[in-house]
Amino acid sequence: MSNYHIKHLEEYYQVYRKSVREPENFWEEVAGEHFLWRKKWNNVLSWDFSKPEIKWFEGAQLNITENCIDRHLTTRADQTAILFEPNDPSEKAEHITYKQLYHRVNKMANVLKSKGVQKGDRVCIYVPMIPELAIAVLACARIGAVHSVVFAGFSSTALATRINDCDCKMVITSDGSYRGAKTIDLKGIVDDALESCPGVETVLVAKRINNEVTMKDGRDEWLEPLLEQASDECPAEIMKAEDPLFILYTSGSTGQPKGMVHTTAGYMVYTAYTFKNVFQYRDGDVYWCTADIGWITGHSYIVYGPLCNGATTVMFEGVPSYPDFGRFWEIVQKHQVNQFYTAPTAIRALAKQGSELVEKYDLSSLKVLGSVGEPINEEAWHWYNDNVGKKNSPIVDTWWQTETGGIMITPIPYVTPTKPTYATLPFIGIQPALMDENAEELKGNQVEGRLCIKFPWPSMARTIWGNHQRYKDTYFSAFENKYFTGDGALRDEVGYYRITGRVDDVIIVSGHNLGTAPIEDAINEHPAVSESAIVGFPHDVKGNALYGYVILKDTGETRNHDNLRKEINQIITEHIGPIAKLDKIQFTQGLPKTRSGKIMRRILRKIAHKDTSNLGDISTLLNPEVVQDIMDNAL
Ligand code: PRX
Repeated sequence: MSNYHIKHLEEYYQVYRKSVREPENFWEEVAGEHFLWRKKWNNVLSWDFSKPEIKWFEGAQLNITENCIDRHLTTRADQTAILFEPNDPSEKAEHITYKQLYHRVNKMANVLKSKGVQKGDRVCIYVPMIPELAIAVLACARIGAVHSVVFAGFSSTALATRINDCDCKMVITSDGSYRGAKTIDLKGIVDDALESCPGVETVLVAKRINNEVTMKDGRDEWLEPLLEQASDECPAEIMKAEDPLFILYTSGSTGQPKGMVHTTAGYMVYTAYTFKNVFQYRDGDVYWCTADIGWITGHSYIVYGPLCNGATTVMFEGVPSYPDFGRFWEIVQKHQVNQFYTAPTAIRALAKQGSELVEKYDLSSLKVLGSVGEPINEEAWHWYNDNVGKKNSPIVDTWWQTETGGIMITPIPYVTPTKPTYATLPFIGIQPALMDENAEELKGNQVEGRLCIKFPWPSMARTIWGNHQRYKDTYFSAFENKYFTGDGALRDEVGYYRITGRVDDVIIVSGHNLGTAPIEDAINEHPAVSESAIVGFPHDVKGNALYGYVILKDTGETRNHDNLRKEINQIITEHIGPIAKLDKIQFTQGLPKTRSGKIMRRILRKIAHKDTSNLGDISTLLNPEVVQDIMDNAL
């Protein structure tokens, strides 16, 4: 019997050792005992990080939706699978049972098929946090179509780039979305995007806000009437273990977003196994992850991981501040939430409101608190622990990435003693390594370096859609035979890991990964701008905010700087989305550059951090004189 559910620290160490010494035996046992296979594998793992090529459970056949839905019908048909909490607290929550989910997913799958979607086709899903989003995801998986969910806060340009990158033939969207007191015209954004997406044949539109929308003849159709007519039985397509399940885009330090490709069997096994252990989920618990399904956290820990375990998973449409900052706690009380998983940026925003709104609600149902997406600072950790958990619910600070598919470094609650700001120990099967500048592995404890993973795990992304070379260059070239995460980390005296942050040009703002290059590209589109550079600086709620240094073209005219700042942020909103707006924009005559023309971001970062005591040797710069000028005018 494999150790599917770890319950104490000795067991963790024992299972961890086994997972490292005999990874294939270990994962074979987990996969064999806890999932539904149409055919089992011939080979558990083959891998070569130099290519890179990673295959788990080769030869196996399955459909992930049979694991997420069908197999629960004999035991929990009437249990709530998805608990939908609407934006407006006066609108009734919707309990979708496993049986209802089965029928709704199958109906949607039949609609997709009737519109010509076939196994392997890509479908873009641009839907807010309403049940149709999860249902569309599962419907794609049911028929073997590859879903590409785009967060419904991205702009039309960002959406178009993602649709075209993987040639989606269909887009699923809604007439609009609610976001607190505001509504957003999602269909209008899709229409704009599709002006530059000739490959899209069909747009299916769910009704949510009863917005007036334009429906393009021959392309756009309302979803509801199609669902009504569709049969509620759709046989699951039999998939190979390594068939792609989905593409999810993440920012890179340069250029185009990267379409990370996740495949079927390994992703399923790892997300299910981590979900069970990291949240210590037990039958009957109500689990709530506040992320959006547009991000990896939502894919793995709202949809696939929980449903594979027959859990009740809450889907929340709204925002933490509506109708007031007590909303999260009101929902915890109302649905008796047992596991609550959120981001440090939300915790900091709520902590700012004080503890009164927390005390108003009964949070005694909570057993586990989770944090994800960025380092959680000590103050936020304590606030969360004291006020929400009442020092009774362990906090799992879970480190992972879009690329890793599942949680990698984390405490196991009630098993691993926690330590504020530490993600603590590698999860079962994960073999981290810290590397120094000379690409040597740092052995022993009390060391700090670049975080790599030495051995494959089942849910790692297999490639970047359409660009395997970029996958190799980004993740497997910095350190030989290792996956490089892009993060720095330290290992303390007992072997606990603390993530210190990105070491590349990705900045995490409110838990969202933002590459500097795409933002700079957007700014440079402004007719008055000649060059720009973006860095991050500490922000008490967002974790980091963006600071832009902008050189204006020498056109002789003097423009109002405040207006220019607004226009620059407007362009960023159009190209990427409001999350990438700059908090500070400094106009400057020049940017510090090396002799080879590379912008010295290290210096710009220090100025933005107001830490100019030690700028290092700037005499080797091409233009050392600009540094003083930038410091004198810093914001
Ligand atoms: O820098 C790390 C940070 O978020 C990055 C991954 O972002 P993304 O692919 O959007 O996935 C976020 C949700 C899994 C990482 O490279 N990060 C994520 N979790 C943590 C974290 N940094 C510190 N502590 C964490 N718990």
